[in-house]
Amino acid sequence: MNNLRILILAAGKGTRMKSRKAKVLHPVGGATLVGHVLRAALPVSGNVSVVVGHQADQLKTLLQGVTFVDQTEQLGTGHALMCARESLGDFTGDLLVLPGDVPLIRPETIQEFVRFHHDGKFQASVLTADVPDPHGYGRIIRSKGLGNDNEIAGIVEHRDASPDELRITEINTSIYVFNTPALFQALSKVQNKNAQSEYYLTDVIGILAGEGQKVGVWKASHAEEILGINTRQELAITDRIMRRRKCESLMSEGVTIIDPPSTFIDVDVKIGADTVIFPSVQIYGSSVIGADVTIQSFSRIANSQIGSRTTLLEGCIVVDSSVGDDVSIGPYAHLRMGTRLDHTVKVGNFVEIKKSTLGSGTKSMHLAYMGDATIGRNVNIGAGVITVNYDGVNKNPTTIEDDAFIGSDSQLIAPVRVGKGGFVAAGSTITEDVPAESLAIGRGRQVNKENRAPHRKKKV
Ligand code: UD1
Ligand code: CA
Repeated sequence: MNNLRILILAAGKGTRMKSRKAKVLHPVGGATLVGHVLRAALPVSGNVSVVVGHQADQLKTLLQGVTFVDQTEQLGTGHALMCARESLGDFTGDLLVLPGDVPLIRPETIQEFVRFHHDGKFQASVLTADVPDPHGYGRIIRSKGLGNDNEIAGIVEHRDASPDELRITEINTSIYVFNTPALFQALSKVQNKNAQSEYYLTDVIGILAGEGQKVGVWKASHAEEILGINTRQELAITDRIMRRRKCESLMSEGVTIIDPPSTFIDVDVKIGADTVIFPSVQIYGSSVIGADVTIQSFSRIANSQIGSRTTLLEGCIVVDSSVGDDVSIGPYAHLRMGTRLDHTVKVGNFVEIKKSTLGSGTKSMHLAYMGDATIGRNVNIGAGVITVNYDGVNKNPTTIEDDAFIGSDSQLIAPVRVGKGGFVAAGSTITEDVPAESLAIGRGRQVNKENRAPHRKKKV
């Protein structure tokens, strides 16, 4: 739609959140509130501006592909529009206004609403909804006998409403389309004589309707979409709805999700077909999961890639890491930032890995720590092996070449290298490089003292 521009209002503090963070910057379902609104806006028009004020710098860094309008003092939603006037220049097309706190709105709904506005040749259109609990919202005052064909007389804010008006359940969603010149003509008449001493954008509707200009009212069929977030309680409700939506979309693409209500998957996560997600799994950020993967309960994956046919058993944590195909992890394994597991690796119970690479076919099945390590292919890491990467000042690297065998309960004091096919005897403390194909034993020699065991049992 060429002659349509979009303005997102995101300058307010959001006092009801009781937060140091601006309301629209609060995350829900894997993006900020305003980030979700922007996602819904961009498919409708490429020309999007955002009004910023409170924590403007953070918003300017976060949001891509938009221009910004500064509202340094937040004197109300009408004032936000006044601040945008200059940037709109002599634009005479339609302006779609979206509040920054309606993260559930879908582009299809916006598009339908814009079409309604066009087809009805309205000067302004307002998107409304019937809600069971209208508390806090502006109420739609339907017109009776105004002498023109408008269905709306105006909008009254909750705090300015009479007891009769408070009973109205049709609410203003704060989503509008305006003919731009008509908007600014009416906006110049808006005053701040109300309970909040603010310039209300809602007054524009009443002014235009009173002038006999055509104002459209379009009621959304899915009231859930227009939920405006003002409180932490509403944030939690929204999160639940978003998670349900994400699970539904993944299931329709062939992912099995055994218990959607306990499954947390962020909006940008991608998952291949025939992957099975057990109850109480969390997958966050930009994670990409392959096909035929199994993720068992209580696992958390964030910003990581998981290859196809890989299995995560119970309780695995995978953060900022990448895992190849046909890998098996867990139960209770922890892959921290910068871990790379090549295909067919096996990582078992209580293994922690950080900033390390494990080549294909390598196994570390029990109770080990690998940090800052480069480990080749088909290496066996025994139970309880530790790469001692930190000397109290620096982090040092460990290299273990292909086909090496590190016996159980060994410590590799970094920097150190075990050559190809090298063998470290169990219980060794390795402080020097192990040449290829060599056996290294670094432990005290065992002494057996005959018949000394019974002495232990005698009381002195
Ligand atoms: C607004 C509407 C109300 C509607 C409700 C829907 C007004 C006067 N009221 O009320 O009729 O039912 O939304 O959710 O418009 N903002 C600015 N600059 C400002 C003030 C606000 O950019 O000076 C932004 C906020 O960041 C927010 C949006 O506008 O994203 C809405 O502001 P908010 O304070 O939440 O308005 P409500 O009181 O909810
Ligand atoms: Ca609001």
